[in-house]
Amino acid sequence: MPSLLPPEQQGRLLRACFEHKHRRPDPWGHAVDPYEAFKYAQTLACVPRRQYRRIVDIGCSEGTFTHLVAEAHPAADVLGVDISERALTRARSRATAAGREITFEALDVLTHSPRHRFDLAFCCELLYYLGRNDRLSLGCARIAALLAPGGMLVLVHPWPESRGLYRPFDDNTALILHSEQVWTTSHRPFAVTVYERT
Ligand SMILES: C[S@@+](CC[C@H](N)C(=O)[O-])C[C@H]1O[C@@H](n2cnc3c(N)ncnc32)[C@H](O)[C@@H]1O
Repeated sequence: MPSLLPPEQQGRLLRACFEHKHRRPDPWGHAVDPYEAFKYAQTLACVPRRQYRRIVDIGCSEGTFTHLVAEAHPAADVLGVDISERALTRARSRATAAGREITFEALDVLTHSPRHRFDLAFCCELLYYLGRNDRLSLGCARIAALLAPGGMLVLVHPWPESRGLYRPFDDNTALILHSEQVWTTSHRPFAVTVYERT
């Protein structure tokens, strides 16, 4: 279990694992799978209507969803972060080709944080890679700390496992649950859950 290692060593192992996973483009089919397109559309629809200035997509892979975020919030500065450089290289090329100003940065969310705080943060299909118990709590605490006061955190993970993954957010007194929507009609049910930082 990688999460039995200290966070830095776990990070090295995760990085190697996700570099390998990204040896071929779009390993999860994010850009072509109708299930992913449906999930992305529902996720964007769940975001409370506000003017956001700074947005981060944590664990953005090749940036398929990050691009949709940038399209939906053209006035915001959008940052995508991921542990895999290979994924980010593809994300950057795509942004350049599309003429879009999105910043992509390599970062292990368990050990490093971006310089800024954000008024909107997405974390989709990532938490189950971080481990359980203390390691999950560490990751969730670091993600919650990325939010500016009043910031919104949008999480997307398989349902009902997501409820267990979100326990550290439920226990975080700086966060309140804003909304949760569940889709059970697809082969892989998922929830879009929104927390607000007080
Ligand atoms: C299944 S993909 C999800 C991509 C995207 N969020 C989406 O839903 O379309 C998970 C991503 O999380 C990244 N990741 C895993 N552990 C990470 C960590 N500790 N810090 C940053 N990114 C990580 C992986 O490299 C991978 O690109």
